[in-house]
Amino acid sequence: MSRMFDSMKIGKTAVSNRFVRSATCENMANDKGFVTDNMIKMYKTLAKGEIGLIILGYMYIHPFGRGFKYQTGIYSDDHIPGIKAVVDTIHKENGNVVVQLAHAGPQTYPQIIGTTPLGPSKKVRNPFTFSKPKEMSESEIQETISLFGEAAERAVKAGVDAIQIHGAHGYLINQFLSPYFNRRTDKWWF
Ligand SMILES: Cc1cc2nc3c(=O)[nH]c(=O)nc-3n(C[C@H](O)[C@H](O)[C@H](O)COP(=O)(O)O)c2cc1C
Repeated sequence: MSRMFDSMKIGKTAVSNRFVRSATCENMANDKGFVTDNMIKMYKTLAKGEIGLIILGYMYIHPFGRGFKYQTGIYSDDHIPGIKAVVDTIHKENGNVVVQLAHAGPQTYPQIIGTTPLGPSKKVRNPFTFSKPKEMSESEIQETISLFGEAAERAVKAGVDAIQIHGAHGYLINQFLSPYFNRRTDKWWF
């Protein structure tokens, strides 16, 4: 147990202890994905409680990648100041911060994103949301890859210590990696 309080190094980042807060979608942004004061307050409380490494909840890299209405967006430079405010708050309490970049793919609702969700294959309905996706074209795949890169750049500008790519829980990347969801016959079949 005592080792939990020992500092550690992850790459070049020194973390004050071994308590890690796993990414947990806060649903505390506003409906445009902007960080709110309540969200900053919540992370301040967590960091004050000496969680050495905090992984912020799901951040969508494009409006089509939003899973729930009040998740945090990182698809525009306008989102950077709010995310930076969270990062600075955690740093002031001696915590380290990871941003989790995500795209829901078909695991969202047309009512949330205003259009048919994108996915690897149109054949499979999402078992959680029952959304039937539009199969992504080559250019949509390339664009989405670039959007992850652009979002990562924004996270760096916001001062984060590390970036995590969300590749689990049935979201877009997970679906590309799954033979159940991915029925493609092109080079994007794994
Ligand atoms: C309300 C809630 C929201 C979550 N949001 C995310 C998320 O945004 N990203 C993620 O990777 N995992 C998310 N998770 C999964 C958690 O990070 C964690 O992996 C999971 O709860 C298992 O850990 P536990 O056994 O300590 O709860 C969420 C879990 C819960 C309960």
